[in-house]
Amino acid sequence: MSAQRQKAHAAAAALDYVENGMTLGLGSGSTAEIFLRLLGERVKEGLDVRGVPTSQRTADVARENGVPLIEVDHVDHIAVTIDGADEVDGHFRLIKGGGACLLREKIIAHASDLMVVMVDESKLVDTLGKFPLPVEVDPFGFSLTAGQIYEALRKAGVKAPDVQLRRKGDGLAPLITDGGHYILDCACEAIPDARLADQYLKAIPGMVEHGLFIDIARVVIVGEDTEARVLEL
Ligand code: A5P
Repeated sequence: MSAQRQKAHAAAAALDYVENGMTLGLGSGSTAEIFLRLLGERVKEGLDVRGVPTSQRTADVARENGVPLIEVDHVDHIAVTIDGADEVDGHFRLIKGGGACLLREKIIAHASDLMVVMVDESKLVDTLGKFPLPVEVDPFGFSLTAGQIYEALRKAGVKAPDVQLRRKGDGLAPLITDGGHYILDCACEAIPDARLADQYLKAIPGMVEHGLFIDIARVVIVGEDTEARVLEL
């Protein structure tokens, strides 16, 4: 069965966390986009919600589907953020940023009362790190920052990190995030101590934000072939 179908089951189950009157954080990525389409149908049926998008792309998809948006700086409370992830471990720690939206995703998720994560089964791992860890950095001095990120990951127990600048589709120009930053993808194979990696990475000037989400998600919805499994911390 396709990952797409599993994502659709997870997205449908995530609607159970949406209530009338809520301000929602709207995640980014293909699963979040399925959720937006389903949410748009509910809005057409009369559901009253507004969303804070975590990327330009999500804002566009929300508008196409009739989901009302609100400016992030006009919001003082976000009830639930609903988003996808690239990896999830047994402690609900995540790797995010495959879509280069991790900074805005983390700002919105961290400010929300609840973060609900929707994934297909392939995203569940015992140890984070098979998916290269995205790290958002300031373009100024990014190769120096890359060296420090390498050292930080080594100190955190990653055996041979490989830090690569993410490039646009043409393979030449660096990809620029919605916030005007670069992304360094750090192939780690395994991150044995995600908390330590978080601590060392945060100490690096020029490191804007990294894709490890620790102690943020409280609900993980795993889409399966015929239904969705809801896990709550
Ligand atoms: C965007 O930056 C990411 O954090 C996405 O949430 C993540 O890559 C999951 O994407 P899919 O839902 O497309 O698998």
